[in-house]
Amino acid sequence: QVEKRIDQLLKQMTLEEKIGQLNQYSQGAATGPGTGRSGYPEMVSKGEIGSIFNLTGAKETNQMQRIAMEKSRLHIPLIFGLDVVHGYRTTFPVPLALSATWDPALIERAARIAAKEASTDGVRWTFSPMVDIARDARWGRITEGAGEDPYLGSEIAKAYVRGYQGSLDSPDSIAACMKHFVGYGAAEGGRDYNTTEISDRTLREYYLRPFKAGADAGALTFMSAFNSLNEVPASANLFTLRQILRKEWGYKGMVVSDWQSLLELKNHGIANDDRTAAAKSILAGVDMDMEGNIYHTEMLDLVKSGVVPVSVIDESVRNVLRVKIALGLFEHPYADDTKSAFDGPIPAAYRQEARKAAEESFILLKNDNAGGHAVLPLTDVHKIAVVGPMADDAEDMLGAWGAKGNAKDVVTLKSALTEYASAHNIAVTFADDANSIPADADVVLVAVGENASLMTGEAGSRTHLDLPGHEIAEAAAKSGKPVVLLAFNGRPIVLTDVAPKMNAILEAWFPGVEAGPALVETLFGVANPSGRVTASFPRSVGQEPLYYNALSTGRPATGVDLTHPPTKSEEKYHTRYIDEQNAPLYPFGYGLSYSSFEYSAPKLSAASASAKAINAGDANAAIKVSAMVKNTSNRPGDEIVQFYIRQRGTSVARPVRELKGFQKVTLAAGETKNVEFTLSRKELAFWNIDMKEVVEPAELSVWIAGDSVSGTPAKIEIKP
Ligand code: IFM
Repeated sequence: QVEKRIDQLLKQMTLEEKIGQLNQYSQGAATGPGTGRSGYPEMVSKGEIGSIFNLTGAKETNQMQRIAMEKSRLHIPLIFGLDVVHGYRTTFPVPLALSATWDPALIERAARIAAKEASTDGVRWTFSPMVDIARDARWGRITEGAGEDPYLGSEIAKAYVRGYQGSLDSPDSIAACMKHFVGYGAAEGGRDYNTTEISDRTLREYYLRPFKAGADAGALTFMSAFNSLNEVPASANLFTLRQILRKEWGYKGMVVSDWQSLLELKNHGIANDDRTAAAKSILAGVDMDMEGNIYHTEMLDLVKSGVVPVSVIDESVRNVLRVKIALGLFEHPYADDTKSAFDGPIPAAYRQEARKAAEESFILLKNDNAGGHAVLPLTDVHKIAVVGPMADDAEDMLGAWGAKGNAKDVVTLKSALTEYASAHNIAVTFADDANSIPADADVVLVAVGENASLMTGEAGSRTHLDLPGHEIAEAAAKSGKPVVLLAFNGRPIVLTDVAPKMNAILEAWFPGVEAGPALVETLFGVANPSGRVTASFPRSVGQEPLYYNALSTGRPATGVDLTHPPTKSEEKYHTRYIDEQNAPLYPFGYGLSYSSFEYSAPKLSAASASAKAINAGDANAAIKVSAMVKNTSNRPGDEIVQFYIRQRGTSVARPVRELKGFQKVTLAAGETKNVEFTLSRKELAFWNIDMKEVVEPAELSVWIAGDSVSGTPAKIEIKP
């Protein structure tokens, strides 16, 4: 039906009108170099534009849409796009923080709210989720993704797609865009836009998995990346765009370029002029040119002179029209312009979700016992000294790509804590530095961190990963009072020097509009932290790139004391540094709670236990592994139970651990639950020596644990 409808349209379209569908321009704030263009109404009326982005508001988008619907010959609607990355108006924690919740259902709800608000303002397409695997904290855009793991990243990718797209043709759904295809997160040295070199196997095993998950979940669009991948720019990469995406995965959605990434083929050095850049891009399968303006200027002649077959253009137009049809834009091109996402205050239900998301995203990195009880949650405090600029910094709480987030909607720590303190008879003082800590304060809260827009997100790469404001924290520590560090940042930071001086550390990220209430509830124990690390926190910048699912190497440093330089040959010839440990400061999966949890060793479920083996050749092979998880404290809490595997004896080396499942479980004080995972072909298959995704005979170790470094393994055999 849809394809027939497209056939009909294609038959009526002139070549100029077809090419028009492949052009996208920004109107409004620029999200890339340059200031945009003018003259859109005329271009739209001539059918020369398929999409406009960065234009928001029902009235504003309708005005432009009216031109497309009423003045253009074939009345093909525009699709309006925007980077709705972690909320539209109701700003949620940044995506890296959201990933720390390990809660796909929560992320789906956040994306749904974003879709409702964005579509109210005429936006029907978001350039999100960013699913780039990121192993290097220097890269500013690590804040936009789900961290380093392909399994967790895939679960989260699907959640975003479900949340944004809802039921597709409903007016409150927006198209998702899997970006940036592909390898962008592996930028050398963590420097944004830099070159990437990724082997075919690593690409498929790690970087491609979340994209595939998103495609399978029905994501309507993909965005081609800025980076070159193995010497071929990703925005003209036949291997990834044609062979993998279209041929192997059978993807039927639309591929848009990144901002001028087609024009940038000239800077990459694979095109000496706009014409060649345009030809290479469309032939590689990039359907829509974002802000490059080269499809507009070059494509007509490229087709007329036979360089680009008209069938290629038709295919790209088909991909674009399919998205517009799927969203119901032909039937419902306009937003209701009696409404705006900014009518009245943010609804209470949205705020509640934003608060819950923030609370679940906080990671308790450290919590000393002082005087017989833990520093956090705060109990029995009468006077609190808060130091550091982040306590009242509404703007930074929005993080990078805050879409239409407004600092006025943010409740800061200062305002939430002031309210809480006055209701609970607690005195509280605020100051920017540590000089003015009152002598009778019971505890000092230090609120410091990165400048969200400068230091994180696009073009926010850093070589020094120190926590800005750490000197305030260190000065506060000299007061001799218990000090709680509240760290606001968009990436893993180096806390090696500062951590020992703090009594407690709460990783707060950039928590969004409900920053203050979420922090207060957490500090006073109304909420119990359950966030877990999704991108390793390094001890030193020199450890980057750093990730848990690494290979063993031939000389693993297992059992070697790495806290000092080697003093004898037994300590020397290992994969190690002479001046730093190998392990991160806070590994993948790590995070404390106000509760404490204990794990039994994993056991194979009864049916599987007798066999203790799986057959590699059995298509239905599955084995169940479970462990008892106990809340050993007197406080209810959520634990993220993680399931890891390692395979040995395989045709290619496999990581020392790989996440293959996780469950967030709520445990009452003293409660024990049996938590079970299933291992099937899906979890066991990998890209083997022949580049086939298969299950091989192997010796398998499995862990059910609270992070990627603890737990006791059980062994299973995968038989031939
Ligand atoms: O979606 C973004 C992309 O992530 C980076 N360049 C600009 C695009 C549109 O704003």
